[in-house]
Amino acid sequence: MTTQPEPAAGVVLRKDLQPAVEAPQLSRARRAVLAVARPLPNRQQLAASARWWAVHLLRVAPWLPLLVLRELRPIGRGLGDLLHRWSTWVSAQDRHEYAKAAEGNLKAKQGLAASKTQTARRWLSLAAVLVALTAGVWAWLRQPLTLAAAAILVAAALDWHGRRLLPGADPLPAAVQVPRVLDDGVPLSQITASILETLEREGFEPGSVGVAEPLVYDHDRHEYRISLATRDEIKPEHLRAIERAVGARDYAVRNLATDTATVRQLVIRVGDPLATPVERPWIPTGSRSIVEGITLGVSATEVPFTIPFAGVHIRIVAGTGGGKTSWLLRSIIDGLSACHDVVIGGIDITNGPELTLWRDVIQYKGFDPASADKVLDKALAEIDRRSKILSAIAEDDDPDNDAAEWHSGLGPAFVVLVDEFSQLAAFDGRTGPTNTGGLNLLAKCEQIVRTGRKHWVSLVMLTQKTGNSDFGSTTMQTQCAVTIAGPCDQQDANRIFGADRREAGYTPHLLRPGVEGDARDAGKVFVESPWHRTPDIYRAYAPGTTAEVKRRARQRIEDGLPRLDSTLPAEVLDAVEVPPVLAAVEAAFRDAGCPERMATAELLDRLADAGLTLTSGKLADEVRPAGLQPTRWHKAGSSPVRGYRWVDVERAIREIT
Ligand SMILES: Nc1ncnc2c1ncn2[C@@H]1O[C@H](COP(=O)(O)OP(=O)(O)OP(=O)(O)O)[C@@H](O)[C@H]1O
Ligand SMILES: [Mg+2]
Repeated sequence: MTTQPEPAAGVVLRKDLQPAVEAPQLSRARRAVLAVARPLPNRQQLAASARWWAVHLLRVAPWLPLLVLRELRPIGRGLGDLLHRWSTWVSAQDRHEYAKAAEGNLKAKQGLAASKTQTARRWLSLAAVLVALTAGVWAWLRQPLTLAAAAILVAAALDWHGRRLLPGADPLPAAVQVPRVLDDGVPLSQITASILETLEREGFEPGSVGVAEPLVYDHDRHEYRISLATRDEIKPEHLRAIERAVGARDYAVRNLATDTATVRQLVIRVGDPLATPVERPWIPTGSRSIVEGITLGVSATEVPFTIPFAGVHIRIVAGTGGGKTSWLLRSIIDGLSACHDVVIGGIDITNGPELTLWRDVIQYKGFDPASADKVLDKALAEIDRRSKILSAIAEDDDPDNDAAEWHSGLGPAFVVLVDEFSQLAAFDGRTGPTNTGGLNLLAKCEQIVRTGRKHWVSLVMLTQKTGNSDFGSTTMQTQCAVTIAGPCDQQDANRIFGADRREAGYTPHLLRPGVEGDARDAGKVFVESPWHRTPDIYRAYAPGTTAEVKRRARQRIEDGLPRLDSTLPAEVLDAVEVPPVLAAVEAAFRDAGCPERMATAELLDRLADAGLTLTSGKLADEVRPAGLQPTRWHKAGSSPVRGYRWVDVERAIREIT
């Protein structure tokens, strides 16, 4: 049995409650302390606080050695410098050098003195070190505080000396911070400053380059333009430096001449305004003249992509997929066939489908070597015929007749388009496995390019490369007044434009040829022509669908195309408008020796030989307005023959004239 302990004095027990402890009486001083004292943080607060400190100290910890090292480094540098000076002093180096420079006896004497000095200094140094060590040990034992203070003083002196030895500011200029054109929000003034700075860095006299027209951004053309006034020439290497400085792409900066000799316009291309192919517009048949030039596509500048074709030989170079056939050739055929004064011949020995698509819009076709030979013969015959006409005009007495060159008043131009020209050029007269007949198509082409210009008989040659084997000879290349270059090899770009113009921005090798399903840069070209003198990119109209090409071809043929009139006599040239078909009929009769009658079948054959392919109905339709009608006659023992009479032809022409 447990006994209840006696209640302590001062504790009052109440029967109904647990025993309670009465608060002890506190002294006044203790109560005052307790009033001021704050409660100690509880355990959780303590842990949080400890964690905070631990984390922050841990963060700082890895840097501590670095901080120490940072402070030790100048002390070490100061000490090193002091030791180096001391060792130089001890070795009496200067005195030895002085002695070496002396002559004869003096040299020996001074050398000896220098050695003595060196020995003396060594002993002195040794003594000083011993004294210092002894003093240090004594102080360590007797006056550690003084030693510590002295050590701190020495360290501070070495630190100060070491910091003084730190190399000064970098003698090279800090890297130039230049804005990048392509960055958004760079003010134009800053880009201008950047261009001027770059030119100064490249050696232009400071202040010698002025801004003639401030920098502007052309949204449509995706270009920046600025005109600079400078007497010094802005060379391609300066343009490359500007590209690097402003962050433009390679060859994005072009240097264009202006009306004023000392002002140059710089154009910085930052985007591709030709990225989206443009559909080829329909130009009504006969609504244009070759004299105006043919617009083949779109341009990103104010110079249109319009090429002169009248008597101009053209070479078009682009690697495979560059867009020669479906972009350029298609635009050329479509554009030429809209003219009322062009007859088109087409040669493709590889027999690609493009020329076939255009049917009789191509009036003279050469899809194999033999037929190509005929087309070239036709061109040469036309040159010959025209030169006779020009001579006849030169001999006549009419002062108004212009005999110098062919013009649209005398008849249509004859343009022969040759796709894959290198295949044609391979037929150079040498008999081989492909040229079994020993055809010399190249020689005929050379003759055309040499003599065809002023008779408006010209060649347009499309090829993948520019080597002599591709064009057959240098003659073929040098006679071309227009060069169009699409995506190609760097070598070809060099051969076409030369290194200088490549540096000036003629860079077809940077264009990317198209691949199946992705046109990339197909159809984009650089152009050199009498009208194109700057390294701008142009893009041919988009090829469109095959169905559209066929539809246009049909329409052109329905609308009627001009024909080569092989026998238009010189004396009637400037006289009257004899309809070409009637003139051709007359020529056919004359060729045949002016027979009394000619059967329609024979007449159509003769017209076809002269390049005029017609049906009997179409022929009748063509000559009816001139009053010429077919007639019938009977040959003995056979069915009636339909044909035309020479007297009727003569009368029809007489009535017109
Ligand atoms: N109708 C079209 N629409 C859009 N892109 C086309 C069309 N036809 C062709 N292309 C693109 O154009 C590119 C160039 O084709 P094209 O046949 O004209 O080249 P090319 O220079 O004649 O090549 P090659 O020397 O091999 O004949 C093709 O790779 C294709 O990507
Ligand atoms: Mg092709």
